[in-house]
Amino acid sequence: MEAIGTFIGIAASTVAVLLWLLTFHKRFFISIVRTEKVAAYGVYTEWGEACRTHFWYLIKALFPGNSPSTQDRLTLERQVQETFHQQFGSDQGGNVLIAHSCRSIFYYVIRYFLSNAKEVQGRRTIRICLPSLHFGSFYRIIRGIEKSLDCCIELYEVDLNEKDWTLDQDSVDEEEFKKCDLLMCQHLFGLPLNQDRLVKLARKYDIPIMEDCVQSGSLFGKYRGYAESDIIMYSGGLDKTPPCFGGGFGFFRNTPRGTEIYEHCNSLHNALPLDTWQGRFMTCFSIMVHLMIAKDSFGFNSLMGLVSYVWLTERGDYINWYAISLKVRKAKAITPFQHTESGFLRRPSAYQLQSMLYGLSRKERLKEVAQHEFRSRELLLSTIPPKYHRALFPWMTAGVLEQYKEMQGVSEFSWVVSPIGDRMHLCQFLNDHFIVVMINTTWEANEKSKSAVGKCVNDNLIYLPNINEATDELIVRVGKALTMYCQDLEKTGEVKF
Ligand SMILES: Cc1ncc(COP(=O)(O)O)c(C=O)c1O
Ligand SMILES: *[C@@H]1O[C@H](CO)[C@@H](O)[C@H](O)[C@H]1NC(C)=O
Repeated sequence: MEAIGTFIGIAASTVAVLLWLLTFHKRFFISIVRTEKVAAYGVYTEWGEACRTHFWYLIKALFPGNSPSTQDRLTLERQVQETFHQQFGSDQGGNVLIAHSCRSIFYYVIRYFLSNAKEVQGRRTIRICLPSLHFGSFYRIIRGIEKSLDCCIELYEVDLNEKDWTLDQDSVDEEEFKKCDLLMCQHLFGLPLNQDRLVKLARKYDIPIMEDCVQSGSLFGKYRGYAESDIIMYSGGLDKTPPCFGGGFGFFRNTPRGTEIYEHCNSLHNALPLDTWQGRFMTCFSIMVHLMIAKDSFGFNSLMGLVSYVWLTERGDYINWYAISLKVRKAKAITPFQHTESGFLRRPSAYQLQSMLYGLSRKERLKEVAQHEFRSRELLLSTIPPKYHRALFPWMTAGVLEQYKEMQGVSEFSWVVSPIGDRMHLCQFLNDHFIVVMINTTWEANEKSKSAVGKCVNDNLIYLPNINEATDELIVRVGKALTMYCQDLEKTGEVKF
């Protein structure tokens, strides 16, 4: 009798709790069930693959007699250099520097110019010409160096054109440009950004050129950088191609400046401490957290959704996915995107070099991704009436679409922009249509900049679920939601398309 009473009591309270949950938190459940938890990062590896490779290299070394020797490490380093040479196709020769990350190489190069300036002019002031949309970590590294080294790094920014986000090269003042110590070419949207005039001017005034090819469409795509560049960089980060769980590849051409800069960078590099087993393990661990989010391994993102609901969402509303994305992205403890110097100023360990070799061998897989990406972009665009394309994807001109096809690159991200300059409004709209978006990633505008367009682009860019990770069904759903958004704007007369 008593047992039955207890049973009824438990059942009744369970039902009461469920009813309460469903009444007051219905939207939480709807959100959890209906949202496809596809992240903004394109991550071209899997959980199992990462365990079999990057983690295995670490675990293997724990068995007696298996720990890689100094000689093993040197051999690995040479192998990585040679493989990079092959993949990059640098038959004209040049030096390759294999670093902990691309940020390391950037840091060495800046240090070279600073010490050069001190020798030549007696004070540490350098001036860099670059597009007005900065890679966030590089920008913060520059600001960090300025603080810690008592020097001045001036930026001569070239803004974007408002219409199609190409570089406004006509605005460059030759007299101003002449005073620069370095031209830093940057690529923005997964394909080469035309910087021809800047490159020509740099050659005319004998200014060294460094090209950051990380977002130019992958090492395995067709683009190989400007023939005039003295330095070309690629990253082997989690969401980069080659996917190596971290790594920086610097190619220094056999030009007089290329060689000179290489030698300086290489000696800075060689003076750094070697990354330890523990250091590499911690890096792999934090990357793994991001991999689990990107792939929604073990339903991990439902847990993130719950955290977001409890912590970052108004009671009774849909889960705020973009707020949790931002929190995770910025969390200092697990970010693989460190810009504090201690995070990247170490020489790669043997384990990391093994990972790099593995990442560099993934060309065939990445070719498939490139083809998939091209089809997915077509699918996305085909679900949105052409009259809205310009407002949502201003950079996707006919020429750019052609280039996407020709270059066979892989983009890290899939973006959209707010047609009314109100990014949060569109974020909320997409969130309420069960689409996970993200903001404030990768790009950064200079707070002191006069470049209005770069700043506006930076402040209005939204990262969609990556089209390489999304199913066709989700891509269609994203397309339809964006269409609805534009139709609403059109109806209220806010925008004429
Ligand atoms: C444009 C660009 N440059 C450089 C990097 C830096 O790569 P790493 O993480 O290897 O330092 C990134 C990484 O996000 C990037 O997007
Ligand atoms: C995003 O970054 C911009 C500046 O780049 C900043 O003004 C804004 O507050 C950031 N938004 C969030 C939600 O962090």
